[in-house]
Amino acid sequence: MFISNEDRVDAWCEYLQAELQDLNFYAWPQDADAIDPLDIDYVLAWKPPPGVIKRFPNIKAILSLGAGIDGITCDPELPTNKPVARLVDTSLTQGMTHYIVYWTIHHHRDMDKYRAFEASKTWTQLPQAIASNRKVGILGLGELGTAAGRALSSLHFEVAGWSRSEKKIDGITSYFGDDGLSDFLARSEILICLLPLTDATAGIINSKLLNQLPKNAVFINCARGGHVVDDDLLAALDQEHLSKAVLDVFNTEPLPSDHPYWDHPKITVTPHIAALTAPHSGAGYVAENIRRIERGEVPMNLIDLANGY
Ligand code: NAP
Ligand code: GLV
Repeated sequence: MFISNEDRVDAWCEYLQAELQDLNFYAWPQDADAIDPLDIDYVLAWKPPPGVIKRFPNIKAILSLGAGIDGITCDPELPTNKPVARLVDTSLTQGMTHYIVYWTIHHHRDMDKYRAFEASKTWTQLPQAIASNRKVGILGLGELGTAAGRALSSLHFEVAGWSRSEKKIDGITSYFGDDGLSDFLARSEILICLLPLTDATAGIINSKLLNQLPKNAVFINCARGGHVVDDDLLAALDQEHLSKAVLDVFNTEPLPSDHPYWDHPKITVTPHIAALTAPHSGAGYVAENIRRIERGEVPMNLIDLANGY
């Protein structure tokens, strides 16, 4: 067994060992001297250093320790003949749903304005916004987008999602494919990005897309920084087309201290915490995927490397 250079590696090892007592777990590079690369059956990783996975020629699968697998697929030397499976984890899905509901309601109910009123000791009551009149759009209706969309719909928001294929989900209007994007954007007053980062989605949040949103729209990015063309987002905010942005993910992480996002009055920055994989809950899922492979079954949530997600 092999776990690449991932923080919380001790916790992962502990919980996986409890699930799979017959297997040996090694951490790379810490245990590099103790392992024979030919003996390694699985790589468990989130953002392994490029070129490391190919050192283990006999692996049966690469199992992601996060929902996104772009940190694995960006390796130019990634073996393309091994199955890659991503992580689906209840606590991750709940964390993402809570983050999205929190910021959607924050902006829906004008909480930034009330904060400013409070700072100037001003007693002002704005008209109460009505959820069923608020159109929320989610780019990506997969595991996380669907869960967040369902939660927002249950709170009476008018929810739509955009995906590659058509969806039939109660309470969520489905837009799909390149042809569905413009209509989806034109109605989305709060736009949430939950797409995987692939060749097709890199840089998708650019001027062309942002200009199709209604004036004063809010943008929330919980997916990857690589989806956003930073200068285009800043221009949309500075030209008052967008009213606010909430950004959890960035082209460079940690976000450099001199980046304009930090001080921008219309931007909220959080440090890639929308949803964190917890080893105590994720280990059960990873262990089940290993058991499936050992039984000769197909692992859950396999990636289609041709599509990149
Ligand atoms: P998922 O289940 O694979 O869902 C991806 C969705 O995106 C699917 O609905 C898919 O459409 C759609 N999609 C992919 N490419 C598309 C394209 N070119 N055009 C239109 N739609 C496209 O992924 P997930 O588990 O929901 O996770 C989504 C992303 O969230 C991850 O990849 C990761 O980057 C990010 N994430 C961030 C955090 C954080 O803390 N900030 C935590 C976890 C995950 P189809 O349904 O038609 O295939
Ligand atoms: C976090 O960003 C993940 O992909 O799990």
